[in-house]
Amino acid sequence: MIYFDSAATTLQKPAAVAQAGVRAIRTCASPGRGGHRPAMLAADVAYRCRELAGALLGVSEPERVVFTMNATHGLNIAIQSLVKPGDVVVTSGWEHNAVTRPLHALGAQVRVAAGPMFDQTAALAAFDALLTPETACAVCTQCSNVFGMVLPVAGVARLCRERGIPLIVDAAQSAGVLSVDLDAWGADYVAMPGHKGLYGPQGTGLLLCGRNAAPRPILQGGTGSASMDQDMPRFLPDALEAGTHNITGVAGLLEGLRYVVRKGPDAILNHERKLLALAHSGLSQMPGVEVFAASAPEDQAGVLSFRVHGMDCEEVGQWLGDHGVAVRAGLHCAPQAHASGGTLDTGTVRLSFSAFNTLGEVERFLDLAERMCRRK
Ligand code: ALA
Repeated sequence: MIYFDSAATTLQKPAAVAQAGVRAIRTCASPGRGGHRPAMLAADVAYRCRELAGALLGVSEPERVVFTMNATHGLNIAIQSLVKPGDVVVTSGWEHNAVTRPLHALGAQVRVAAGPMFDQTAALAAFDALLTPETACAVCTQCSNVFGMVLPVAGVARLCRERGIPLIVDAAQSAGVLSVDLDAWGADYVAMPGHKGLYGPQGTGLLLCGRNAAPRPILQGGTGSASMDQDMPRFLPDALEAGTHNITGVAGLLEGLRYVVRKGPDAILNHERKLLALAHSGLSQMPGVEVFAASAPEDQAGVLSFRVHGMDCEEVGQWLGDHGVAVRAGLHCAPQAHASGGTLDTGTVRLSFSAFNTLGEVERFLDLAERMCRRK
């Protein structure tokens, strides 16, 4: 099978990820739950993972790297910590349901910094116009999970810093490929999954907390610390890590992070951009295929959406799946992004790449896509 669905989850992982998971399940107990060797081993794995993630993602104290179940979990903590019912929140036009649904549930007044696809200058200008003194918080994805559009997060962060507005960044699609730098951005929170570009197992995620963040736990319970106190500890990471850790997952994530650091996010990004460019040039020569690609490579990362005239997107996804290519078709849990891209009525077919994909796989996919288009 050719796996082009890494925006959902990377399927091919470095071998060390699974090996570390097996080792952890055999040898690790719970961090902070005892001074015996299995507990200390678990604590060591957890600390090393926080430390390496902090070094890669611009967090100077490992304690401000919090383990979560996924990006959605981290975004819920971040949004519920900063937004009250009725608050004005400014978002990009390319957010995932992991952002829009929590804001909707809170009854926030959402103002969308709209602009054309792949236009970072227009996106920044739209944030500039909307970030006013009444803004309680801004939320911006760093890369659209539907179109791979890169958002100008560093610029949005600068505007937020200048205006004293808290910022949440959704790095679900960017961590491991684009530069994430919590401390330089001065963001309050950056949320990401462990199972996509960081090559960890499903069920892992990271929430990076800014120096001045005052997070509100959404889960209460044991932390192995301050046990007499019936309030959750205020210090990180304990404030946000009630209950036993997924240490098997964390051990795998640590190996995923080591892989990313060894290869280098820039090298992974460049590799994925080569795959994207080949897929784009091949698809755009096929009659009836509409491809969503940036004219400047720096405006797009790792994800390419397309539609085939006269074929339903789900049908295309199914046909490719039946012929050995895994893609995701439909709305990708991001109706707002599809509305911004003008594809809400049809959805798109999405190719999303990882460091493990090859140019040969893209060529085989293009041969198949051509066959599919000829038979319609
Ligand atoms: N948000 C993930 C995707 O884009 C699951 O497929």
